[in-house]
Amino acid sequence: MTIANAVNEQRLWQRHMDLAKIGATAKGGVNRQAFTPEEAEARKLLAGWAAARGFSCAVDDIGNLFFRRAGTDPDAAPVVTGSHIDSQPTGGKFDGAYGVLAGLEVLEAAEDAGIVTKRPLEFVAWSNEEGGRFQPATMGSAVYTGAMNFDEMLAVIDRTGAKVGDLLPATLAATPGAQRRAFGTPLGAYIEAHIEQGPILEMEDLTIGIVTGIQGCRWFAVDVEGSEAHAGTTPFSARRDAFRAAHAIVAELYELTVDDKDILRFTVGCFEVAPGSPNTVPGHVYFTLDIRHPDAAFLKELGDKVEDVCRRNANGLKYTLRETYNVPPIKFDDGVVGRIRDCTKELKLSHRDMISGALHDAKYMNDICPAGMIFVPCEKGISHNEVEAARPADLAAGARVLAEAMIALANQ
Ligand code: GLV
Ligand code: MN
Ligand code: MN
Repeated sequence: MTIANAVNEQRLWQRHMDLAKIGATAKGGVNRQAFTPEEAEARKLLAGWAAARGFSCAVDDIGNLFFRRAGTDPDAAPVVTGSHIDSQPTGGKFDGAYGVLAGLEVLEAAEDAGIVTKRPLEFVAWSNEEGGRFQPATMGSAVYTGAMNFDEMLAVIDRTGAKVGDLLPATLAATPGAQRRAFGTPLGAYIEAHIEQGPILEMEDLTIGIVTGIQGCRWFAVDVEGSEAHAGTTPFSARRDAFRAAHAIVAELYELTVDDKDILRFTVGCFEVAPGSPNTVPGHVYFTLDIRHPDAAFLKELGDKVEDVCRRNANGLKYTLRETYNVPPIKFDDGVVGRIRDCTKELKLSHRDMISGALHDAKYMNDICPAGMIFVPCEKGISHNEVEAARPADLAAGARVLAEAMIALANQ
């Protein structure tokens, strides 16, 4: 029996439905943000499934959670897949979960088919991929490779002041039997499966996206300090209106990011006005910027303009600008991409090459080992939304490609 034949569509689908019960929202999505009790609960569920099949478990100091099926050479670096089980505040059932559960499915299919590999096979759930609660995103994978500093990440706080370092013990306690793994423990190769989170595969009626790279991304957090004042009595000349300044900054950035080709992405995802009273001039505004483009030079030039836009529009008010994330575009390993393409063709699945608009942990793995990604369609390309949907057959097809590619790499 081939591993592709052993991939079980129904089991893979049911795992998604079971995992989605943890943090389930009324609109059919999930709220399972990083380092929450819900995310810890999801870790326990994964660990139970893995233990039932005899896979060993390891965790590192930032909570990256690894499950291993042994190979014949215990010293060989594993072939690893995975993604994340943390979600957006209004996330869907598939973003991240698919990559982790497809990984579990590959290991289970290898068990079912009695396939022996030289290298161990592993799947991993990386910590805080989303970055919705704690910036930066892809925190776990970046710390694993050394691209982000662990101590700095421990000090990161969310909008309520909760600190990563204070929440980690509860996260780590979710898998008490796990061995401790050192950051940077070598990987032989890494492939991540993910829903596309965009409309291309569905529009072109294709099953597999062979991901050749990821576009670049820069995040900024801006605080503008004004003074609270009475809305009815304070003349404009005497106001220090934090909203007015923040609005002017954002308005100019929207002008600057007009792109006729519709390649550039620009998002103001958070905008908090304090104290938030109709009749008080705002004394403080906090907002975030997310800028993405596949061209490194273009992204650098545009991102570097943000400081100047803030200074010119702050209207003399004090502001602070922090860059919370800066990831240049990347290209995946030709060998891994070629392997994924070959496996897709062997399975006679329709496909195309594409670059990822979304961020993924594979970006950081690509720095330390040959890496690549597999996309499957999602309904109308909708993601970061509770209605996010994908078809069981497409999820299984992606898992089959993943399985074949992993087995090939694991015998190299
Ligand atoms: C992660 O989901 C991202 O692309 O922001
Ligand atoms: Mn994701
Ligand atoms: Mn996401």
